[in-house]
Amino acid sequence: MHFDILTLFPEMFAPITSSIIGRACDKEILNFNFVNIRDYSLDKHKSTDDYSFGGGPGLVMSAQPIFDAMKAVNPKHKRVLYMSPRGRVIDLPKLKELSKEQNIVILCGHYEGVDQRVLDYWNAEEVSIGDYVLTGGELPAMVLIDSLARLIPGVLSNENGAMEESVYSGLLEFPQYTKPREYEGMEVPEVLLSGNHKKIDLWRFEQALILTKKQRPDIFDNYVKNHRDLTKDEQKVMEKVLRML
Ligand code: ADE
Repeated sequence: MHFDILTLFPEMFAPITSSIIGRACDKEILNFNFVNIRDYSLDKHKSTDDYSFGGGPGLVMSAQPIFDAMKAVNPKHKRVLYMSPRGRVIDLPKLKELSKEQNIVILCGHYEGVDQRVLDYWNAEEVSIGDYVLTGGELPAMVLIDSLARLIPGVLSNENGAMEESVYSGLLEFPQYTKPREYEGMEVPEVLLSGNHKKIDLWRFEQALILTKKQRPDIFDNYVKNHRDLTKDEQKVMEKVLRML
């Protein structure tokens, strides 16, 4: 999957060149082309923004540098996304849809946004990471890339990892423990040391249900309505959790 990332601050993207995403780049599963919008400014001061026609506070990113940066990445047959709090908030179905693309262009805005003609001409789809406003599109772009990368085969070492975790299974993830068995007087739950995998799976299912009911009642209600077939034992656990206050 190839990403062209148009930004005024390419250096902000250092975090996605390390760790799991960095390894996916080494394996050539992912590929990033960072384009500094300022390099395309024809202005003698390399300016990239100006006042908003009609007035109002803040500066707007000018069309010319972004247009020329866009032409350089040849987005004709590429999906163009613009990170913006005005966009539809990204969720799992959206990520799954985007994970099918081979080429994605991500435009990161700053200041009060970009000249609307950029978005209209390049058919840019506005996408948001949540109903709050950040100072620029770079952090949201990294959030998008990281969550998308996890869905691409070969990026995670365990292929099932992404789907089993958290919201992907329809429930929040159960609590996990590692060595030592006792830490600061706190013991690892006995059942996890029993070696009885059926019991362990049921305990984890129960914990996931309890946690989801407490922390995300919306997800819990959805799971109760739409869950896949449960075994008799799982059904009993579910009934027990439903009876809990
Ligand atoms: N730019 C500023 N805030 C944003 C948000 N919430 N999502 C995407 N891009 C943004």
